[in-house]
Amino acid sequence: MTMQDFEFIRNLAYQESGIVLPERKQHMVYSRLSRRVRQLKFSNFSQYCAFIQQHPEEMINFINALTTNLTAFFREQHHFDYLEQHLVPLWKRKSHRRLRVWSSACSSGEEPYSIAMTLAQHFPPPNWDLKILATDLDTNVLNKANTGRYNIDSIANLPIRLQKECFEINPRENSASIVEQCKKLVHFKQLNLLGDWPMKGSFDLIFCRNVLIYFDNPTKAKIIEKFRQLLSDDGHLFIGHSETLHNISQDFTLIGQTIYQPIYLNAQRRTSII
Ligand SMILES: C[S@@+](CC[C@H](N)C(=O)[O-])C[C@H]1O[C@@H](n2cnc3c(N)ncnc32)[C@H](O)[C@@H]1O
Repeated sequence: MTMQDFEFIRNLAYQESGIVLPERKQHMVYSRLSRRVRQLKFSNFSQYCAFIQQHPEEMINFINALTTNLTAFFREQHHFDYLEQHLVPLWKRKSHRRLRVWSSACSSGEEPYSIAMTLAQHFPPPNWDLKILATDLDTNVLNKANTGRYNIDSIANLPIRLQKECFEINPRENSASIVEQCKKLVHFKQLNLLGDWPMKGSFDLIFCRNVLIYFDNPTKAKIIEKFRQLLSDDGHLFIGHSETLHNISQDFTLIGQTIYQPIYLNAQRRTSII
């Protein structure tokens, strides 16, 4: 991979996904794309760069190869604790029984299914209209998410009660599948946070965790501004452990560990834990 190839790749990745690839990530880019380069039987990256310019349909493979999809069930447990201890009681007092949650960089589904496992028992249909929208840019992870089937090792650290209630375990296949009651609450769609968003309705809660870190500040600011427009006035935004809205947005106030609410709310209505 020449420096010129790397420049081309990082510019294209930024333009298409907002992902910033600094020079120190050149080795990572090389290892993630080289399998695709070999698959297409090219002998170098320059050929691949020329190919992608002539074949726009290759973009999806290019992006899928470059995204970082690390995730886990109940990752950053404190968000799920907050959901259970503060938002569930708050939402139970709602007069209209409609809840909308968006997991906006859902990777292979562990995050939205963890939300579903937390909420399903509290807001059962038909009394409650609960939907969890789960989106990601990467089509490979969305395909996996849609199956609702995971390696049994990925649930090994979850409490036994949760393993029993929320998964169908198949020891012969070494798999654990999300039970239908939770699976049907989650609706997966491909969505680029950088592009147009078709959703109109307001959300009670948006998860945007561990993806803002890949973007520069102007991109983060644009996305956060759009979240504000889609969040209900008493909505909440959860971001990742190493992310912050400091110097990114003045529309939100921090009310817990990486938990935000729109700013102009009456302070007394806030469910602050700090
Ligand atoms: C590290 S994972 C985080 C998964 C999950 N939110 C969590 O915290 O466990 C980051 C995800 O962001 C997605 N992503 C990257 N750029 C994106 C974009 N422009 N639009 C939507 N999703 C994007 C990647 O495909 C990846 O699945």
